[in-house]
Amino acid sequence: MSVLSDKKILLGVSGGIAAYKAAELVRLLVTEGAIVRVVMTEAATQFITPLTLEALSGSKVHRHLFDASETSAMGHIDLARWADLILIAPASADLIARLRSGLAHDLLTTLCLASTAPLWVAPAMNRVMWEHAATQENISILKSRGVHLLGPDQGIQACGESGPGRLLEPDLILKGLQQAFSRGPWTGLRLLISAGPTREPIDPVRYLSNRSSGKMGYALAKAAQDQGAAVTLISGPTALTPPKVDHFIKVETAKDMLAAVLQGALTADLYIGSAAVADYAPIMAPQKIKKGAPTLTLELQKTVDIIGQVSSLEQRPFTVGFAAETENLEAHALVKLKNKGLDLIAANPVGEHQGFEVDDNELMVFWEGGQRFLPKTPKTDLAAVLLTLILERYHASHPS
Ligand code: C5P
Repeated sequence: MSVLSDKKILLGVSGGIAAYKAAELVRLLVTEGAIVRVVMTEAATQFITPLTLEALSGSKVHRHLFDASETSAMGHIDLARWADLILIAPASADLIARLRSGLAHDLLTTLCLASTAPLWVAPAMNRVMWEHAATQENISILKSRGVHLLGPDQGIQACGESGPGRLLEPDLILKGLQQAFSRGPWTGLRLLISAGPTREPIDPVRYLSNRSSGKMGYALAKAAQDQGAAVTLISGPTALTPPKVDHFIKVETAKDMLAAVLQGALTADLYIGSAAVADYAPIMAPQKIKKGAPTLTLELQKTVDIIGQVSSLEQRPFTVGFAAETENLEAHALVKLKNKGLDLIAANPVGEHQGFEVDDNELMVFWEGGQRFLPKTPKTDLAAVLLTLILERYHASHPS
């Protein structure tokens, strides 16, 4: 059964070009079994007709504070009490400002003021409006009052500009609500995962890389997201379809991965470095290297140890590393645990038909004062077992 089944969702739609996406959102919510009632601001009706949302929600759309026919059906106080959760998508800059100020001169803002239900807000506006100090201040005040934010997303906007401010896609808004209602063991935790290989350019057409498939990292990301975590997955080039996570960031080189991971680590509770990062990168030739001499020497430069950087941050997330070893598994893993300043390390034997590019894996997991063997099993199942162990160690080191 879906976690949204029979949940009463009050969807507020405010005015903005993204209002048309409310139709898809209503459809997704209804498909998940939620009972949806829609409230539109006057401006929202300029972008999408109430009739569309009425047809999709199967219920009359509420628009006016003082409307006898609406009040007799369900007055605003009843509607405010009815909701298990209020979601506003899209939330315009103006609506966000009114929520912050506690204004109540239309139905939607009155409902928000009159309800004790959790309030979730998915902003959508031009990037300059989003970045404006007034909007940012409004958002941080709303957050400090316990309002939950979904997005905004980055990308091309209706006005032709590019940047933050796009409405989060309806399927990700849905995911956010599912997390709100799910009581998975990872609910409330922000997990950063890096996965896959890196690609280090030799010249404009060639690169150095490794055999990492990204399967383990992707399986961890999916399992953690399913168990309620807010996941950011940073991935080198892989042939895999990305799982549905909160943020998916594609990178190529170790340098790009370092920048993305350090940025993500600022807001992560846990970091799992499952990527097979190149230890050395060539000094890239500006032009394609020509064939000629019988031998060719490439000069390589050591890359920065990403996980070591994360574990030495002042506000560090709980940090988990991997060690792929062809020999002396335990000894090498314990040295890495210590030298890289990790909280936990998962070591696996690699070689022919083992570790990389295959679907099964086994792990020996070490932390200060303990170890556990996780026997050979498909990577998807192993991911769930490893996550349970990581969460156990995380809670042991963060007693609440
Ligand atoms: O030292 P080694 O590469 O074997 O260590 C593996 C662990 O260190 C993995 O968790 C990997 O993601 C991380 N690593 C890193 N940055 C590097 C090299 C490895 O974060 N440059």
